[in-house]
Amino acid sequence: MHKFMIAGGSHLKGTVRASGSKNATLPVLAASILNAGKSVIKEVPGLVDVSVMKDVLVHLGARVSCEKDVVEVDSSDIQPVEISEELMRRMRASNLVLGSLLGRFGYVKISYPGGCQIGSRPMNLHLKGLQMLGATIHEKYGYIIAEAKRLTGADIHLDLPSVGATENLMMAAILADGVTTIRNVAKEPELVCLQNYLNSIGGHVMGAGTDTLKIEGVHLSDLKPAACTVIPDRIEAGTYIVAAAITGGDVTVVNVIPEHLDPLLAKLREAGVNIAVGANDVRVLGNGKVKAVDIKTMPYPGFPTDMQPQMMALLSLAEGTSVITETIFENRFKHVGELQRMGADIKVEGRTAIIKGVNRLSGANVEASDLRAGAALVLAAMAADDNSLLDNVEHIDRGYDQLEDKYNALGARIIRINN
Ligand code: UD1
Repeated sequence: MHKFMIAGGSHLKGTVRASGSKNATLPVLAASILNAGKSVIKEVPGLVDVSVMKDVLVHLGARVSCEKDVVEVDSSDIQPVEISEELMRRMRASNLVLGSLLGRFGYVKISYPGGCQIGSRPMNLHLKGLQMLGATIHEKYGYIIAEAKRLTGADIHLDLPSVGATENLMMAAILADGVTTIRNVAKEPELVCLQNYLNSIGGHVMGAGTDTLKIEGVHLSDLKPAACTVIPDRIEAGTYIVAAAITGGDVTVVNVIPEHLDPLLAKLREAGVNIAVGANDVRVLGNGKVKAVDIKTMPYPGFPTDMQPQMMALLSLAEGTSVITETIFENRFKHVGELQRMGADIKVEGRTAIIKGVNRLSGANVEASDLRAGAALVLAAMAADDNSLLDNVEHIDRGYDQLEDKYNALGARIIRINN
């Protein structure tokens, strides 16, 4: 178990580089199964979740090698062997191999991923879509088994724009017989990154970034080796941006695509934070207290649920009362109790949190319940009056590349305690 000892009273200053996006890397790694050959993936972040996906690929028979942030996957010898409960429990997103394994082999068996700290996270849209592509699905003894001789193109309308379901269906449809149209899909930038990778290996996908995808199926023999560069992590970058605001610092985050940060930057500007946007960087000048703002999490390009806990930490110290409504995940307020321990004044009513800004937060012993909750508590702790001890930082390691090194280079004082 790892803990962070975090000194309060930091004012971050300097430049920090965002790593490649976790949520773009995972589907691209899963998609590398499809081409039965080599893929070179650049700007891969050093994260526990990425290691789990590499382990899944190795378990399936891929040869995976890494050199700094470049990962090479050779999927020539992959077989659709069962993905055990042990691998699924390590990371929910292992379910992203469902579409690519089914597309390439016509068979996949994975342990049911189950719920997690932030919600029940069903797979119904993934499975319904695969059925529409002609797969037969059996769910028994905690496993999902999907089979099809060859998937067939279909018209699919998603009930809601699930990111994972869109990715799985996009990957499955690449090798289907005929054209697949998927409406009401997720529009997140990570989908565009996946589309670019799939097209680079010889797939025919159009429409990523809009609400309709069109995929013209090709044959396995049409697919070829390819290289791809993962887009910068907009959530990691967003977290550093909020870190600058909450600590009253002066931080430039480089290697960003500013457009991907628009929903966050708009809210921060509304809260009175000084922001200068360059071609590939964002500079934030924290100028004292922020103003209260209301936030409702929505699918992209709405305000990202993955930035909700970090914004709550910031708004805990705002002037006035903010209201945050979480519409994506039903149980994503686990950080509230921990922020309250630090002196935040927050009341939760169903999916809404009412945050009355306080003048100061005090350091405390707190616990990360999930990845972004952990990130939010680091922010609160850096801005608090005294030292904090943050437990369960394994959650943070899932999604932040060298978090304490990056913060410490900006003047924070975070020590990892290993016990
Ligand atoms: C992805 C991101 C995660 C982010 C989330 C929402 C990855 C690896 N993870 O997760 O960081 O918080 O998008 O932006 O990219 N749902 C169903 N049925 C389904 C699938 C989803 O009801 O079959 C519901 C979920 O319970 C949730 C909502 O749809 O309430 C959104 O989930 P989804 O977009 O699928 O999130 P993930 O892809 O799991």
